[in-house]
Amino acid sequence: MAMPQTIEAVRHSFVAGGDVKRMLINGEWVRAASGKTFESRNPATGDLLATVAQGDKEDIDRAVAAARAAFEGPWSKFKPYERQALLLKIGDIIEKHYEELSLLDTMDMGAPISRTRGTKQRVLGMLRWYAGMATSIHGETIENSLPGEYFSYTLKEPVGVVGAIIPWNGPLGACIWKIGPALATGCTVILKPAEEAPLTPLRLGELLMDAGVPPGVVNIVPGYGETAGAALAAHPGVDKVAFTGSHLTGQLIVQASAGNLKRVSLELGGKSPDVVFADADLEMAVPGAGMAVFANSGQICSAGTRLFVERKVYDEFVERVANFGKGLKVGNGVDPDTQIGPLVSEQQYERVTSYLSTGRQEGARPVTGGQALTDGPFAKGYFVPPTVFADVKDEMRIAQEEIFGPVISAIPFTDVDKVIRRGNATTFGLGSGVWTRDVGKAHRLAKRPARRLSVDQLLPGNGSGRAVRWLQDEWLRPRVGHPADGRVFECKGRLDQNRVARQDITHGGSAALRSSQAIAG
Ligand code: NAI
Ligand code: MG
Repeated sequence: MAMPQTIEAVRHSFVAGGDVKRMLINGEWVRAASGKTFESRNPATGDLLATVAQGDKEDIDRAVAAARAAFEGPWSKFKPYERQALLLKIGDIIEKHYEELSLLDTMDMGAPISRTRGTKQRVLGMLRWYAGMATSIHGETIENSLPGEYFSYTLKEPVGVVGAIIPWNGPLGACIWKIGPALATGCTVILKPAEEAPLTPLRLGELLMDAGVPPGVVNIVPGYGETAGAALAAHPGVDKVAFTGSHLTGQLIVQASAGNLKRVSLELGGKSPDVVFADADLEMAVPGAGMAVFANSGQICSAGTRLFVERKVYDEFVERVANFGKGLKVGNGVDPDTQIGPLVSEQQYERVTSYLSTGRQEGARPVTGGQALTDGPFAKGYFVPPTVFADVKDEMRIAQEEIFGPVISAIPFTDVDKVIRRGNATTFGLGSGVWTRDVGKAHRLAKRPARRLSVDQLLPGNGSGRAVRWLQDEWLRPRVGHPADGRVFECKGRLDQNRVARQDITHGGSAALRSSQAIAG
């Protein structure tokens, strides 16, 4: 197996000397206050990658204090241009170290190196887009009808100290879309990486220090969700929580945020429908619908896991997607030829394999896959091959619940209106896809509201107009002034106190043509 050359070097930098990988608080690398640690292992091999400081409430307290001091102190003096320059510098440093960061993601959470390398343009593009936004922030002047000569305006100011809680399914990208907007808008941040994959975030912390991010502006506290994560979500000194992860944890975050009515933004999971019509270009739709689920071993929030296929082509399509899945190379992510890596952890492995049994018990028919891979090169890792279940019914658990593994539930349909209703008939959804050559049909489906229990990932590249609004609405708050007669009569901060815990559970948008991005995986 051709291993990337730097693999030993990267591994060495983590296990070297048996030292504990420390957390970043106030610009310093420190051990957990409790002295506790946890292990991070490679899910393909079981190899120990590093022993990591295990943050808890006390560490979160220290990080929040540092973030507050930086927010009110030196960081507040940074002009937009200086924040922009800093972000661009971070972009250059990350670009220089991209190979190392890709490898770390691959070793820590299992995704194929082809995938973690392949995110380069997107990740750097996002970061540089945030850099651009730092100098594009603006308020409004507002016509008013107050008696006298007043004019009204808003100034946008950063929301403050942000707790960012990220999952393990794309650690580098997740770090960037939390840290990027924080730095662009002048917030400070405490990042809590997922316990399954803390290494890239910690290495990124080193690079941020090299770039000259001032102490306390970005703090990184690894640890478990129930302890470090919960402490961050409930902390009275945190103004906003930006969370990506499961809907169950999202619900806990909303509850925890109530104490000081934090702002909350949630990016949760889904059971997204992908609808294939008989008139689709099947040459495109087969790999497209396949990789919409198999990519990253299905560990993607917007994976098109409910595959609705028009009855006329159902048998043919299911067989072709199954063959496509069977042809993908499963293996250790560091092998450049690997297309499907392991699942991230034993917990995910147990979870996904139990859904494989559930599917069979419910009467669904595995056309390919359906069993974990346990022999030879797979013996020590958490490998589940691409799986396609046929004869799936809407009410089955495998058609309703997020599996977060490489498992397609293929369901036949005949009626367009019914498939829209059925597509929306889950408690949650995130994205959706339509495969057809009939533009009228595509638009018709796109117009029907899809149900979501998650904010769309309003990231640059997903329509930057919406991304601009997202940044302005989520990471800044308006301050209103009414200057008149040479006096400044300011309603400073009044709007702050109106902060409601906004859970961005949006209902809107819906089916879009799944882009070629999904095909590329
Ligand atoms: P999770 O939602 O529990 O973990 C995500 C992050 O939240 C991690 O950093 C974790 O430490 C933190 N967290 C956990 N409990 C917390 C709490 N009480 N307070 C604050 N933070 C907390 O997801 P998990 O357990 O890793 O995976 C379970 C399932 O969730 C998956 O099988 C999948 O269905 C879904 N999931 C969806 C993701 C997405 O991108 N939509 C990402 C990860 C998981
Ligand atoms: Mg969890």
